[in-house]
Amino acid sequence: MDNLLQQIDIYKKEITEFSAEKDATEIFRIKYLGTKGVVKIVMAEMKNVPNEKKREFGQILNEFKIFAENKYEELKSVTRNQLPETSNQIDLTLPGDALPLGSRHPISIVKNKIISIFQRLGFAVAEGPEIEDDWHNFTALNLPEDHPARDMQDTFYISQNPAWMLRTHTSNVQVREMEKGKLPIRIICPGRVYRNETISARAHCFFHQVEGLYIAENVSFADLKQTLYFFVQEMFGQDVKVRFRPSYFPFTEPSAEMDISCLICGGAGCNICKHTGWVEILGCGMAHPKLLENCSIDSNKYSGFAFGMGIERITMLKYQIKDLRLFSENDVRFLKQFTGAV
Ligand code: DAH
Repeated sequence: MDNLLQQIDIYKKEITEFSAEKDATEIFRIKYLGTKGVVKIVMAEMKNVPNEKKREFGQILNEFKIFAENKYEELKSVTRNQLPETSNQIDLTLPGDALPLGSRHPISIVKNKIISIFQRLGFAVAEGPEIEDDWHNFTALNLPEDHPARDMQDTFYISQNPAWMLRTHTSNVQVREMEKGKLPIRIICPGRVYRNETISARAHCFFHQVEGLYIAENVSFADLKQTLYFFVQEMFGQDVKVRFRPSYFPFTEPSAEMDISCLICGGAGCNICKHTGWVEILGCGMAHPKLLENCSIDSNKYSGFAFGMGIERITMLKYQIKDLRLFSENDVRFLKQFTGAV
């Protein structure tokens, strides 16, 4: 027993002299208070103490434990209030570590930009359902059941009810807005659309469009051209050139497609513009009288224009992205490049 008492005295002396150097608190805790620490070892000696001495030793051991614990608390408070020894080497004027910033998806960035450009011209945002019926996606848009132009868009039908489908374009929102019967209408409709296409660098089974529709009295093709010209300049810069080519859409008459001068080669000819110097960016035209009548709008009184563009296409041109699949792969190395853009 005397050995034990002597040993405790030695430990106590050690503890008293333990100084608060670097990492001292943790070293102390492990050495004295840890699961295999000195206090535990000493306490374990209790079982060797004869019964009649147990009370007396119990007290001594307990005191020892409290002694060690007090020292631990003292070390903690000392080190907490102490700057590290190297404090004179710390440059407090250095900037802090940068927090990693998230980024918006490029499709959202461009979608927001398109919206804000048209909002400045007085267009309001309208949205519609992605699961649509035949009337709003096709028939009302002057695409009756056996119309060959339905083949332009490979459609996903809902298997439980083939009268429903995933919308193939955002033009369904045009119909829904016109059916509300409140005129004039000046809207843009951003949203996701679906087509049964093989996924490649240039096509995907889902993508995004922005539809535009302006219906009022005396709207002309000149208004359409000026609106889209303003959009393109705001989006791509003042130097960009545009051209309109005649085209065909069942819901517009006349119809056109708009090209912009290739931003990659500046019009000289490259792979992106297939060496023509021009890139197609949207379809447009004057709302077909049949479409207006389908939505109970008097086509003798009202006229209007519509347009539709793919957000992916605009984004690829703006940021020179060559593969459409990047937009849906969630590769952070791709997404991080848009940090800071809004
Ligand atoms: N809906 C057409 C498509 O998905 C795009 C389009 C073309 C929309 C002409 C329009 C328009 O509103 O007038 O290919």
